[in-house]
Amino acid sequence: MRELLAKSLAALTALIVVGLAAVFSLVHNAPGPQEVRPEVQEPVPQFQSPAVAAGRAAYDRNGCAGCHAIGGQGNPRSPLDGVGRRLAPDAIRDWMVASDRVRPRLSAAVARMKQSYAALPEQELQAMVDYLASLHAPPGSR
Ligand code: HEC
Repeated sequence: MRELLAKSLAALTALIVVGLAAVFSLVHNAPGPQEVRPEVQEPVPQFQSPAVAAGRAAYDRNGCAGCHAIGGQGNPRSPLDGVGRRLAPDAIRDWMVASDRVRPRLSAAVARMKQSYAALPEQELQAMVDYLASLHAPPGSR
C-alpha cells in the first residue's frame, strides 16, 4: 500500500514537471514583440573615444591582464571592473606604477613589476589611466 502510494506520488510529480516544462516552452517560444528585430543593428561602441581605445590597447600590450581582469577576462585575482568609480585618475596612476603612496601595500615582486611601467612613454601611461578611469560598470556587467 505504501509502495503504491509512493509510486503514484512519483508518477504525479513527473507528470507535473513534464507539464510545467511544456507550458514554459510554449510561453517562452510564443512569437511576441521581442521577435521583431530591426533590420540593421547599430554596432555597440566598445570604447568611448580613441584615447580610451589606445589605453585599452596599451593595457593589453603591457600584460596588465596577467594580474587583473576586466569583464571576466584576465586574472580574476584583481578585477578592475568599475575602478573608475572607486579611484580618482591620480590614484589609478599611483597603483599602476606602484608609486610611493601605494608601494607599502604591494608585495616587493608586484611593486617591482609595476614600477617598470613608469619607464613607458607618458602618452601610453596617460592613455591607460584614461581607459581605466572610464570603467564604471560593476563586475559581471558589460
Ligand atoms: C604582477 C601583477 C600585476 C601586474 C602585472 C599589474 N598589476 Fe595592477 N595591481 C596588482 C596588485 C596585486 C594590486 C593591488 C590591489 C589589488 O589586488 O587589486 C594592483 C592594483 C592595481 C590598481 C588599483 C586597483 C584597485 O581596485 O584599487 C590599478 C588601477 C592597477 N593595478 C593597474 C594596473 C595596470 C594598468 C597594469 C598594467 C600596466 C597593472 N596594474 C599590472 C598587481 C599587478
